[in-house]
Amino acid sequence: MAQLLRKKSNHAGVGTGEYRSEKLLNFVSALIAPEDGALRKIRLETPKRGLPPINIGPDEGKILDFLVKACRAQNAVEVGTLAGYSSCWIARALPEGGMLHTLEYEAKHAQLARDNIRAAGLESKITVHEGDASVILSSLVKSGPYDFCFIDADKVNYPRYLRWAIDNVRSGGIVVGDNAYLFGKLHLSAKKAKNDGPAVEAMQEFLSTMADTRFFSSCAMIPTGEGMAMAVMK
Ligand SMILES: C[S@@+](CC[C@H](N)C(=O)[O-])C[C@H]1O[C@@H](n2cnc3c(N)ncnc32)[C@H](O)[C@@H]1O
Repeated sequence: MAQLLRKKSNHAGVGTGEYRSEKLLNFVSALIAPEDGALRKIRLETPKRGLPPINIGPDEGKILDFLVKACRAQNAVEVGTLAGYSSCWIARALPEGGMLHTLEYEAKHAQLARDNIRAAGLESKITVHEGDASVILSSLVKSGPYDFCFIDADKVNYPRYLRWAIDNVRSGGIVVGDNAYLFGKLHLSAKKAKNDGPAVEAMQEFLSTMADTRFFSSCAMIPTGEGMAMAVMK
């Protein structure tokens, strides 16, 4: 965000001002979401190792830290590991004896994640499961219930991962989904979204389920650049 936006929002329900500038956001990040060397190294090295730079950022990592602690999570699941950046944020927020099960389809990503997790000294708190999340999640039922679930993988399967979370996250536990704005296309019709139509439909279903009070007592969107949706299990 290059310049300070002073326009009043015309979106009903949003506050009156938009004060976020790049300098202000950097100031806040340095103040409340500092990365240590291990985290910074993972984030900066990931693209150098040939992986896409699609990890969350430090501010989003700090949000995960907050949410994990807010629900006093001990047993957590993450769908979509990449190089383990978000995994390390989540695991560090868990108490001693806590465990994060993180799921990754790509062997190269899973291997780098294991190396990064070891380098960060978190191997006793994180298990990397390699393979298709839809398959691995079934095998993780027996290690539940879970307190926290972070969904950050293939968008078309978000509704499927959420259904699993509804069955396996305890009451008062928290479910989080990243990229919930679907790269700015969330509000489009599937037809208008063209190739992204299936992902748009999936994310719309995901969000409407998160907002369904039969399953969740509260759902909200953290307006990060990508949109981070979160909900508390009923
Ligand atoms: C956005 S990245 C995850 C970023 C990570 N959470 C972070 O912030 O550091 C998504 C990851 O999900 C993985 N993925 C995609 N489809 C998957 C599936 N069906 N099962 C497991 N992992 C999958 C991709 O290979 C990729 O590494």
